[in-house]
Amino acid sequence: MSKPKHKIVIDGVSKVFGPDPQSVMPLVRDGVSKQEMLEKHGHVVGIRDVSLDIPAAGTFVVMGLSGSGKSTLIRHLNRLIDPTAGRILVDGQDILTYNDQQLREFRRSKISMVFQRFALLPHKTVLDNVIYGLVIGGMDAAKAREHGMQQIELVGLSGFENQYPRQLSGGMQQRVGLARALATDAEILLMDEAFSALDPLIRNDMQGQLKELQARLHKTIVFITHDLDEALRLGDNIAILKDGELRQVGTGSEILLKPADDYVSRFVRDVNRARVVTIGSLARKAASLPASDATEARCRELLDKTGAVVLTADGKARAVLDSRDASAASIRKALKAAARGAALPELDAAATIEECFATLAASGGPVITVSANRRSMGLVERGDVFAAMTV
Ligand SMILES: Nc1ncnc2c1ncn2[C@@H]1O[C@H](COP(=O)(O)OP(=O)(O)OP(=O)(O)O)[C@@H](O)[C@H]1O
Ligand SMILES: [Mg+2]
Repeated sequence: MSKPKHKIVIDGVSKVFGPDPQSVMPLVRDGVSKQEMLEKHGHVVGIRDVSLDIPAAGTFVVMGLSGSGKSTLIRHLNRLIDPTAGRILVDGQDILTYNDQQLREFRRSKISMVFQRFALLPHKTVLDNVIYGLVIGGMDAAKAREHGMQQIELVGLSGFENQYPRQLSGGMQQRVGLARALATDAEILLMDEAFSALDPLIRNDMQGQLKELQARLHKTIVFITHDLDEALRLGDNIAILKDGELRQVGTGSEILLKPADDYVSRFVRDVNRARVVTIGSLARKAASLPASDATEARCRELLDKTGAVVLTADGKARAVLDSRDASAASIRKALKAAARGAALPELDAAATIEECFATLAASGGPVITVSANRRSMGLVERGDVFAAMTV
């Protein structure tokens, strides 16, 4: 079987609470408002027709205000609740068709959850909390302890394994919760407002720690928050819910630069864009061409196709060509520069505008952006950077 493209697919999922959810689904589908559904029809719309593709090995944030349906959505993913309509696929499998045994196995090995209020067992030590699920699942006690100690080290709690939860600060308790979720080696971590109960400094620490862990572990994390800064800091992708409906999904840069509607616009209005928007998101695509293979004809062909060309030597950018100035003289000049010239400054496409200020300020013309694997290059103009900061 070929590997599905997305780790989790949420396909047209609605969840209605009330005495007879199915009976009101036609109204929900017709778009009757959440308020009217409650006042006239006695049902609460938890989420309405939400579809999301969640890629593997990334942090996917679901954001929205209180009551927008975040918890309802995430609880579907480990089937704490089942949808009124729609499908949920994990690794291409429809989890709604699972029987009890398949569901137990799925929850034991594939998916685990970190709760807002830590949900630790007060009479058990840190280590016993961390390995509780493993022991219940039948793992040999010595093996479970060894594995548990590794998770405790991973979250920076070595030395505290024999303490009890009440002896720990909130941040430390939440790290126990995280270690417990990691202990099952689940590929998917669900985190529902996992940091919201922590005070700001500790919360900030935990966000940093989660980012570091994720850079090493490459889990599929679904992270719920009502905090925009947290969403922008953690999310490779962000989905915004309002009244149970999906308003927008995209990278932080996409959401800031192209808010889908007024609601999202108002939501993101006060964000410092320089700190969030990546330089790569502002670049236009450029083809790269080793100077040793470059002829005038080849340059022109690529310019027609892509609009911009970066000439490279020894893998480094040496000269830039732009279709807006594609005269024979300009091309010859660029070819000469590429053969002899010094390397041009390059920006990491994933860097924020703020991180690029110095390079942008020092450069006269467009600056080259390069993706992490160096497979794609782009050109960014200073004017576009200013424009992005003032939208
Ligand atoms: N078990 C339930 N029975 C009835 N209504 C429910 C139930 N669970 C959730 N709801 C309703 O569904 C809607 C979405 O609730 P949900 O808990 O998903 O919101 P949330 O975005 O997680 O909010 P918060 O930020 O406050 O946690 C709300 O209107 C809520 O009242
Ligand atoms: Mg919630």
